[in-house]
Amino acid sequence: MQTIFDTIKKVAIKIDHTIKTEDLGYSDSSNTSGEEQLKLDVKCDFLIEEAFKDISIVKALVSEEKEGVMELHEGGKYTICYDPLDGSSLADVNLSVGTIFGIYEGELKGENLVASAYVVYGPRIELMIATKESKPMHYRAQEGLFDFIDEVSLDEKGKLNAPGGTQQHWCDYHKTFVDDLFAEGYRLRYSGGMVPDLHQILLKGGGIFSYPGTSDKPDGKLRQLFEVIPFAFMYEQAGGQAINDKGMRLMELVPAHPHDTSPCFFGSNYEINALKEAYGVQN
Ligand code: AHG
Ligand code: MN
Ligand code: MN
Repeated sequence: MQTIFDTIKKVAIKIDHTIKTEDLGYSDSSNTSGEEQLKLDVKCDFLIEEAFKDISIVKALVSEEKEGVMELHEGGKYTICYDPLDGSSLADVNLSVGTIFGIYEGELKGENLVASAYVVYGPRIELMIATKESKPMHYRAQEGLFDFIDEVSLDEKGKLNAPGGTQQHWCDYHKTFVDDLFAEGYRLRYSGGMVPDLHQILLKGGGIFSYPGTSDKPDGKLRQLFEVIPFAFMYEQAGGQAINDKGMRLMELVPAHPHDTSPCFFGSNYEINALKEAYGVQN
């Protein structure tokens, strides 16, 4: 597993360099979710594929930018599911973007995730790694190497509210829930990139990030294997909760297809318990 983390560190530095130096325009292709791919999406996907392709413990790769499962080593133990560049449409306005990795052992489902990691490319490059044995571990790059900063824990209750999705298509009880948090004094923090948005909530002690099912997207937008489940694990390891709109732990998701999405809510305990009440699901 350490080989996988070391590879993530090396490829993160390359991706950061790519973001900072290469063409920000569109390619002429789309991904499985029907989104137009930027040249950066394609390049970052290629860098990650190259980085892992000779590592024998890696059985297969699943990428947001690839149609199916890319088999690598038959005897490998782990499948790495990744979003090469999350929030890529924010690169041309110079906002933070990220990369997300979910490391699975066996069938691709939430309960088989054994570790997750994400990288934030902002003013600095930061990395968070979570394993079953630890709270999320926070690193920051300094001259191409990652220094360990601290373990991260969520407080019981935070101050930040990051409500995703198109408000026009929210259901009434979701809108009431979001409004009630603001009425309680919560501050809006939402960049449109789940990596920096969830990173901010983790590091500032707590709050809630939501991307609900909406009338235009009943299953939400965020993809289970490489966006939702890796962050669900991070939040649970930090002492928070991560659930869907039925109150089910996102770690219990079983995707039928690699690109399946799910409504998702990540936060500290107070806010997720309030959400369960607002949605009328078990607390
Ligand atoms: P990606 O760039 O990998 O397609 O993911 C973007 C995601 C996520 O980072 C963000 O929270 C969400 O899309 C925002 O989507 P909308 O602005 O379309 O609601
Ligand atoms: Mn993404
Ligand atoms: Mn992406």
